[in-house]
Amino acid sequence: MDLFEKIQHEKSPLGQYSHYMHEYYFFPKLEGELGNRMIFQGKERVLWSLNNYLGLANHPEVRKIDTEAAQKWGLAYPMGSRMMSGNSDLHNRLEAELSAFVQKEDTILLNYGYQGIMSAIEALVDRHDVIVYDAESHACIVDGVRLHQGKRFAFVHNDIASCEKSLQRAQAITQESKGGILLITEGVFGMGGDQGKLREIVALKKKYNFRMMVDDAHGFGTLGKTGAGAGEEQGVQDKIDLYFSTFAKSMASIGAFMSGDKNIITHLRYTCRSQIFAKSLPMPFVEGNLKRLEMLRNMPELKTKLWENVNALQSGLRAKGFDLGETNSCVTPVYLHGSVPEAVKLVYDLRENYNIFCSVVIYPVIPKGQILLRLIPTAAHTLDDIDVTLDAFAEVKEKLAKGIYAADTSEFAEAIR
Ligand SMILES: Cc1ncc(COP(=O)(O)O)c(C=O)c1O
Repeated sequence: MDLFEKIQHEKSPLGQYSHYMHEYYFFPKLEGELGNRMIFQGKERVLWSLNNYLGLANHPEVRKIDTEAAQKWGLAYPMGSRMMSGNSDLHNRLEAELSAFVQKEDTILLNYGYQGIMSAIEALVDRHDVIVYDAESHACIVDGVRLHQGKRFAFVHNDIASCEKSLQRAQAITQESKGGILLITEGVFGMGGDQGKLREIVALKKKYNFRMMVDDAHGFGTLGKTGAGAGEEQGVQDKIDLYFSTFAKSMASIGAFMSGDKNIITHLRYTCRSQIFAKSLPMPFVEGNLKRLEMLRNMPELKTKLWENVNALQSGLRAKGFDLGETNSCVTPVYLHGSVPEAVKLVYDLRENYNIFCSVVIYPVIPKGQILLRLIPTAAHTLDDIDVTLDAFAEVKEKLAKGIYAADTSEFAEAIR
């Protein structure tokens, strides 16, 4: 069979809806200034889909440094990979400042989080080693594990008994193979908003010999006294062997980093293929990230405002009887029961009649019959944004319960049924 014919025949689970949903549910175009309200399909909507936690995306100081740095350097400088020709004092400075901020000896900058962590995982282990990882890890971790030539065990999400069982299996293998164990989890799980049980996993270090990597994409800048993340929040930052975050969320930028002991970071500098064989971060991003880090350190009011909004939104939703699952972070999941067509109609109603834009997750990403609406409160939101959202959510919940969305027989509803 022709490959392309086969691909067209077997559409992906979400791709099968692309004809009806493209640029509305998937690939929507949000216009206007990045913030709490943006334009979608020509109308202003309250926006809950950006990981712009601290509201830095459109902060005047951030916009200023980004503009000045682009003018000063252009986007090309420096050319080539860090290893060959793309290094600079400012890259080194950003690494040193990040190390100090997350309380680690050294840091390697990564040009994107996804391929950065993926190839860091690959660079750390060989076929004698075993990876133990949380089953609900982000795709970049799963893909990193796929690159591993040796054994791997996924433990049930945030289940410490399952984690320990995986460590026992891993240890039985490494005792024979003379390899080591890399355990990978997240600081905050981006869908459910529950923090990884870092404290409990660290406690297992007393019984098992393993090294721990934490992807703290959603915790960095939002959790912990200084904003250093989930490890700081749980009092175990010093026990995390490799701390990773992207700049794409609270820093509202591009790039990522991994921090740890100097000798291990040096190993990564010389072995991490996604960095050795790819262009280093352009200077405007390096300067822009230095500025953002300075703001994270010196403007605690941004995190205070973020948490005021998180608490107002989450307590307001709970008071209206919504199920927010296990979240103990800013990520605010709202779990409802309904079919895929009901989810689609509900989101359409929220967007068109209440001007609320949030992300929706449906089967097959989550089990059949569940609807997950995912809200990301930020420091840029206002109490008014929260009030109108709470009222709208209460109304659509009632409509869902009354079967109003299920009864819809429009051409669109029929098409996706
Ligand atoms: C948990 C997690 N890790 C890694 C990444 C990838 O980071 P980047 O966007 O820098 O590639 C993301 C998404 O941005 C994420 O949510």
